[in-house]
Amino acid sequence: MEEMKKGLEGVVALDTKISFIDGIQGILMYRGIKIEELVDLPYDAVSYLLINGKLPDETELSEFSREIKNNRNINGKQIEVLKEFDFGFDALDGLRTAISCTAHFDLENNYHSPDANKNKSIKLVAKFPTIVAALHRASFNQKPIEPNEELSHGANFLYMLTGRIPTELEAEAMEKDLILSAEHELNPSTFALRIAASTLSDIYSAVICGLCTLKGPLHGGARKGVMDMLDEVSSIENVQSYVLGKLERKEKIMGFGHRVYKTLDPRARIYKDVARRLSIENGNSYWFDLAEELEHILFHEFVEVKGKPIYPNVDFYSAVVYKYLDIPAELATSIFAMGRVSGWIAHCMEQYDDNKVIRPRAHFV
Ligand SMILES: CC(C)(COP(=O)(O)OP(=O)(O)OC[C@H]1O[C@@H](n2cnc3c(N)ncnc32)[C@H](O)[C@@H]1OP(=O)(O)O)[C@@H](O)C(=O)NCCC(=O)NCCS
Repeated sequence: MEEMKKGLEGVVALDTKISFIDGIQGILMYRGIKIEELVDLPYDAVSYLLINGKLPDETELSEFSREIKNNRNINGKQIEVLKEFDFGFDALDGLRTAISCTAHFDLENNYHSPDANKNKSIKLVAKFPTIVAALHRASFNQKPIEPNEELSHGANFLYMLTGRIPTELEAEAMEKDLILSAEHELNPSTFALRIAASTLSDIYSAVICGLCTLKGPLHGGARKGVMDMLDEVSSIENVQSYVLGKLERKEKIMGFGHRVYKTLDPRARIYKDVARRLSIENGNSYWFDLAEELEHILFHEFVEVKGKPIYPNVDFYSAVVYKYLDIPAELATSIFAMGRVSGWIAHCMEQYDDNKVIRPRAHFV
């Protein structure tokens, strides 16, 4: 038997053309393009890039955006089903159930032709934000807000959540958030999705596997964990004692550390800049200053004192961005999924195109 690698650490499970990570240099590329170059594009262009393998030209982008906009609505029956939910539960659980409903109402669900898969992909990208916003509003007995055709993917989400047209910077922040969340090689949720796809299960089912795996606090759930931590710390003066207490109790600090990055996550740098700009627009630097203080103290504790390469990851400053966008912590994982769905779809297609059932072995002990 081969040596067992706990958590599959360091195991290479497949070839991919979708993204590349250099965890030592802190480089992330989607389809061979650095995220620093992609982050100023519209989310639709990056979604197209991930799903189709190349950046769209002007005509392809406007056609893709039109298809997304045409599919943003969720049907009346689905809203009735959503209303039946008991809203005591987690937002991500609600999203997972709603995606199951979407699959149920999609007559192409169990068709696997390239056209059916393309249609399902468009519907998934288009409907995620509508569902997240509608579920959140329904939990306060508020009616869903119709999508606004004039707005970008990110801006329209913020609009459907609150009914207010976001400022230019808020819209930019949301677009960047979705882009930076869109893809990250064989992270746990993508791996789970690829296992489902490798059995030739349909795209909706594979995406639901991704959602279930994203939920955990050591993966997508960490963003909510950071937002909760920012609340718990409660003042900049408390940061030192809060952090030392957690480390003494051997508790993990959410938003820090990464299986692959042993330096600053390149996404964290971009989020930090967006958070700083939002703090200026808001005239309130509290959340930004608090996060920077956490970063400084943890750099000292992890890197300088313990010599461990533990730095802020994607979830750290994204949580600060959400604070400034007034996004409730419960929605953090669902919004992560809204961006990630494009990467998930790309991985599903890549798995279908060159499939072998993913089935490792275990040592019997
Ligand atoms: C992301 C994560 C799961 C990576 O896990 P991993 O590769 O299995 O690494 P480990 O959890 O084994 O960590 C290695 C060591 O660093 C420590 N460590 C790693 N991240 C830490 C964190 N956020 N807070 C405190 N200690 C941490 C571990 O306790 C462990 O210490 P030990 O060697 O003394 O036992 C881990 O860093 C983590 O739990 N981070 C917090 C959750 C988070 O932000 N997740 C989002 C990831 S994008």
